[in-house]
Amino acid sequence: MKVAVLDTPLVETGEDLVAIGIFEGDELPPEFASAPGADDAKPGFRKTALVHAGSPVHLLVIGLGKRDEFTPERARVIAAVAAKRARALKATSLAIAIPDEGDDKAIAAALIEGAILASYRFDRFKTHSVGSDADEAEADRPRLESLTLIGHIELTADADTARVAAESANMARELQNLPSNIATPTYLAERALELAATHDELSCEVMERDEMVERGMGGLAAVSQGTAEPPKLIVLRYQHGEGGELLGLVGKGVTFDSGGISIKPSGGMQEMKMDMSGAAAVLGAVAAIAELELPVNLVALIPSTENMPSSTAMKPGDIITQLNGKTVEVNNTDAEGRLILADALAYAVELGAKRIVELSTLTGAVLVALGSTYAGLMSNDDAWAEDVTEAAERSGELAWRLPFHAEYKELTKGTVADLTNSASKRKAGTIYAGSFLEEFVGDTPFIHLDIAGTAWDVGREYASKGPTGFGVRLLVDLARHLPAKA
Ligand code: BES
Ligand code: MN
Ligand code: ZN
Repeated sequence: MKVAVLDTPLVETGEDLVAIGIFEGDELPPEFASAPGADDAKPGFRKTALVHAGSPVHLLVIGLGKRDEFTPERARVIAAVAAKRARALKATSLAIAIPDEGDDKAIAAALIEGAILASYRFDRFKTHSVGSDADEAEADRPRLESLTLIGHIELTADADTARVAAESANMARELQNLPSNIATPTYLAERALELAATHDELSCEVMERDEMVERGMGGLAAVSQGTAEPPKLIVLRYQHGEGGELLGLVGKGVTFDSGGISIKPSGGMQEMKMDMSGAAAVLGAVAAIAELELPVNLVALIPSTENMPSSTAMKPGDIITQLNGKTVEVNNTDAEGRLILADALAYAVELGAKRIVELSTLTGAVLVALGSTYAGLMSNDDAWAEDVTEAAERSGELAWRLPFHAEYKELTKGTVADLTNSASKRKAGTIYAGSFLEEFVGDTPFIHLDIAGTAWDVGREYASKGPTGFGVRLLVDLARHLPAKA
């Protein structure tokens, strides 16, 4: 989407739809006060009224709620409301007046994010000849092509970051949406190689099964032994820092999680195509960071496989040896993510990552604990946890820290091997998984983000049903603020 910031009177922008907000207690600007429909304008948060003001084709008035409750998150929501209305009206260009409250730059960035995220559609499988008239009408609606923010600010780096990060989040959402017969580990590897080919500072290597086995990546080998689909370990590097320390990003890339022999119930199983949301977030973030040429050094690892039942699949009770030599009793083949991530984390340390952020749709339990509002954040390092939590707050991709404790660690101990991948007691399932992963990073400052609740179906105005691309904006924000810390 084309994004511009202009300092023009509202009626002269020439956009198809012009949106302005009003706070509680504020009046419409005098030039619109007597336009037809002006009386319908309401200041209640996200309330809308279409006011026909003559010069712009349509004027949309959106309630901004109470002035002191206005936040960048609210700006994302109202931009999404405007973008959806634009689509319904078949408008291809939208102007939004920047509300005069709070930090201009942060609000402008949030408006850009909201509009771009809300414009995302997964419609590549709708052939226009089939389906209801409503489907056709939906598919035929023109896309929003340009967004103009109206206000007294310059188009800043924040605005550019917002645009690139939101577009990359949409790219991640497309990967999340693609079904597992298309988005296979091989497909993800191809996308990573393509991405690397577009930027000089990026390079990509893809590790095949033989090498995983040879190196001793027992988790990746075991989870992938039940599927005919070849597993891939994608290693993407981005070099743009002047000697800055290497940040490791790791994303779970299970392209379909049936549970394996510990098979999941069939109801809703189709959604387990999204078990590569961590991988999608990492790919999206690397794409955005490279496009923005942020001055950081990254190594991004995506362990990718299907988790399937078959006569060659790993079985409950199997014992495997992970890359760092630790042995694991596999008591539940549905706790597969931690097995492949364990190898990827140990490998990230081997490759020299000095700090790590890992994202995975790891446990259903995080949905019970935090719903879709916060991702679960676990860490072995307070300062690093704080940096990532701040990036989460700034980006609106929220994360709440859960504790580590020796008693949780106790739960992960195996009876006949060092560790077990799932406890017999249903206690602290999310923390259990985080504690398990922590066994594979040594002393490296490590963040585990459990995004099972935030990656899909969060019910926000700008990403309501299906994929959210959660993590892309958070990681881009983190990368933007890292150099200052180093
Ligand atoms: N991919 C799932 C977790 C998940 C659940 C993601 C819901 C998205 C939505 C993961 O591999 C899994 O199956 N976890 C098990 C762990 C259990 C067997 C210890 C779970 O959460 O039930
Ligand atoms: Mn599973
Ligand atoms: Zn899984």
